[in-house]
Amino acid sequence: MTESLTVRDNRTGQEYDVPILDGTIKAADLGKIKSSDDEPGLAVYDPGFVNTASCRSSVTYIDGEKGILEYRGYPIEQLAEKSSFLEVAYLLIHGALPTKAEYEAWVHEITFHTFVHENVKSFMQGFRYDAHPMGMLMASVGALSTFYPDARNISDAENRHIQIVRMIAKMPTLGAWSFRHAQGKPYVYPDNDLSYTANFLSMLFKMSESKFEADERLVKALDVLFILHADHEQNCSTNAVRSVGSSQVDPYSAVAAGVGALYGPLHGGANEAVLRMLKRIGSKENIPDFIQGVKDGNERLMGFGHRVYKNYDPRAKIIKKACDDVFEVTGVNPLLEIAQELEKIALEDEYFVKRKLYPNVDFYSGLIYEAFQFPPEMFTVLFAIGRTPGWLAQWSELVQDKEQKIARPKQIYTGDRGLDFVPAAQRWA
Ligand code: CMC
Repeated sequence: MTESLTVRDNRTGQEYDVPILDGTIKAADLGKIKSSDDEPGLAVYDPGFVNTASCRSSVTYIDGEKGILEYRGYPIEQLAEKSSFLEVAYLLIHGALPTKAEYEAWVHEITFHTFVHENVKSFMQGFRYDAHPMGMLMASVGALSTFYPDARNISDAENRHIQIVRMIAKMPTLGAWSFRHAQGKPYVYPDNDLSYTANFLSMLFKMSESKFEADERLVKALDVLFILHADHEQNCSTNAVRSVGSSQVDPYSAVAAGVGALYGPLHGGANEAVLRMLKRIGSKENIPDFIQGVKDGNERLMGFGHRVYKNYDPRAKIIKKACDDVFEVTGVNPLLEIAQELEKIALEDEYFVKRKLYPNVDFYSGLIYEAFQFPPEMFTVLFAIGRTPGWLAQWSELVQDKEQKIARPKQIYTGDRGLDFVPAAQRWA
């Protein structure tokens, strides 16, 4: 038996049967409910898409109440512990784990697309000395579309594949160069003898040495952070990628939109905000006053709360563990003590308990990034590099989904109607 919803329109007394499929009703079915033939049909008002499914997706599963996150069915805890970022990227893009031969071919392809055209370097050098690296990353990813005009041929599977490989491969190069730019240091070319993450660290930190060798524990920790950020179903930036991608534009332009969305403080910029907040609090004694300010609505406890998780964010647990590994190499970040005390107090406070506000992925990630000596402006760049396979897996799913259409929400019009226009010369006379 098909499940359905019976709706009675009290304006007309008419009843409608609306089919329920996968726990949803189709908004178009509600559109058939009208008070009269010349009225528009019923629509759903949902700012922020709080309760609206925009697609079917088999990439990532989240159960926010239970704190579960799975990529293609595999729990994030197992992937973080036993996989690598490039294997996870393969999984997200292809939908299944690679065979040995597939994995080697994938790593080879990504490794040999890490270089960018020299002109990319020239225009990146044209940014102001104090340009925010996220602005540089957004602009340079978008600009790649001009270097690969064939990318607009999105209906060709082979073509999509090569653009996906290019983007995953080149993001660390663009990210590292935007970092070097702010420091006034020469850009470092990729070293294709190194792993994906070790090469990224080399492009970031190499100076005059002939080979940059990062501590393996740091390489592993950063690789885990990339895995944790690799996808998160229909979040703000993924929605931006899908929304822009729905116009059938090339994937570089769509991903540039995702980078833009990620830049915002309520999304990827939150870990930068967490760090600023911890520095502002300054010492454990100031925590009660700070918490009171949050409860009075003067500010937010950054790194807490999530649209989907109403439980401890599973990624935050893994990051807490990674903190220990990184601090073993770099020494403990003094802000850790404040963060831990803040978490302890907040988790016991009725305000946070009642609203189910728990630490999210960004609460501890900033502390790790700072231990790596990244300035806060770089944190979101790291998030963007990790999220790229997820954006591309979602984009690839979108362009092959026959049910998708160009994104074009409705509105409730609240402005004036039918005014008479008086030309400026008469109005100002
Ligand atoms: N501190 C204090 N109060 C909060 C917080 C917070 N961090 N987050 C939510 N609340 C309160 C909010 O004031 C509201 O209270 P009331 O019902 O009394 O008005 C209630 O909790 C529900 O909040 P909301 O704003 O309706 O929830 P949302 O789903 O729209 O927002 C959020 C989710 C992540 C934007 C929000 O929790 C927030 O601003 N957190 C701080 C920023 C942050 O850490 N962002 C990173 C998110 S995880 C990384 C990512 O996926 O990008």
